[in-house]
Amino acid sequence: MDQEDEQAPAAQPRTPSRRSTVLGLATVAGIAAVDVGGFLYVSGRLTPGKLTPARLADGFETTFGKHAGFRRNHAKGVSVSGHFTGNGAGSAVSTATVFESGRRSPVTGRFSLSGGVPDVADTATTVRGLGLRFSLPDGEQWRTAMINIPVFLDSTPRGFYDRMLAFKKVPATGKPDPAKAAAFLAGHPETVKAMKIVKKHPPTSGFADSTYHGLNAFHLTNSSGHMVPVRWSMVPVQQARPAAAKPPEDRDQLFNTLVTTVDAGSLRWRLMLTIGLPGDQLDDATVPWPDSRRQIDAGTLTLDNVQTEAEGNGRDVNFDPLVLPQGIEPSDDPLLSARSAVYAQSFARRSGEPAGTSAVNVSQVLDA
Ligand code: HEM
Repeated sequence: MDQEDEQAPAAQPRTPSRRSTVLGLATVAGIAAVDVGGFLYVSGRLTPGKLTPARLADGFETTFGKHAGFRRNHAKGVSVSGHFTGNGAGSAVSTATVFESGRRSPVTGRFSLSGGVPDVADTATTVRGLGLRFSLPDGEQWRTAMINIPVFLDSTPRGFYDRMLAFKKVPATGKPDPAKAAAFLAGHPETVKAMKIVKKHPPTSGFADSTYHGLNAFHLTNSSGHMVPVRWSMVPVQQARPAAAKPPEDRDQLFNTLVTTVDAGSLRWRLMLTIGLPGDQLDDATVPWPDSRRQIDAGTLTLDNVQTEAEGNGRDVNFDPLVLPQGIEPSDDPLLSARSAVYAQSFARRSGEPAGTSAVNVSQVLDA
């Protein structure tokens, strides 16, 4: 796997459940302001040695260069839209309206490749991302950002940050410094284990036939007040094919194929809710849950429109994993609050800069 996968921020404990619901009603700019302010007050000034969202965002800029107007991670992407239709099965475990039988919720999304370089060449092994924002009644939203690997490589924000710097590519070789990478791995057995699991799940041919995993645990509460732990994934209805053995010839091949495939007809995924049992890891996304866990097929995601990133589409959404509707609550996984805070930091930086030009021009691809 390429090193440009998800890398590290700093976590501060919060009580995100109520806050998340409130944030669901807020504007994106409002979210940025709340998150950045809160985090700095709690950790930055009072504990100068600590990892803060700003230091994490700086870490991305050190590793990938500073690319004004772009996300500090998952910089290369296209925007999509469509809808999600619940089939009612999820209502057994959660009151979230998104799961109601027959409810059609509008979705804004974004496919991306991990790493902070906006015009990076597509490769099969670079981690693929899918961010989704479901618009629900009464101004509620559910936002989630998922990736195509079955476990995360780090259990803590510090691990993420240190791995990002340890695996930074050396300009002379285009590869990480072997000594730094080895030193990191020697101190992080959880990452070594997670990398072995990832190796056993080689990537599929492209964005359309990838399974996207939320990885972090959450809690669902049903109408009787019963709470269960959950992890979720989007499983493609499109048949999965192995990635091509040869590297793509075209810099944007994976994105171009996605664009032409969506243009030719809609793409669909099943939302699978995996219900945890006592003893399952709720605060460590490097550890998989047993395959025997109950799976609920909660409905179908349909994506039928793809656009070059532009004002007002997926480009301008902060896919903050703590923006949740009632019926879905965060777990104590330290990655969640860290992600929320550093996404806000990245959002605040990029929205204060002149907008970057997307490497993937959808109309050009379709006219070609
Ligand atoms: C501590 C760990 C992590 C850090 C520091 C981190 C950092 C970031 C940052 C800075 C962004 C850009 C946000 C923006 O400007 O809107 C981003 C985007 C993203 N991250 Fe993470 N991330 C982490 C963990 C994860 C995990 C566990 C997942 C998946 C389960 C994930 C999936 C994504 C995806 C799909 C995007 C792109 C979303 C979009 O299109 O806007 N990240 N990440």
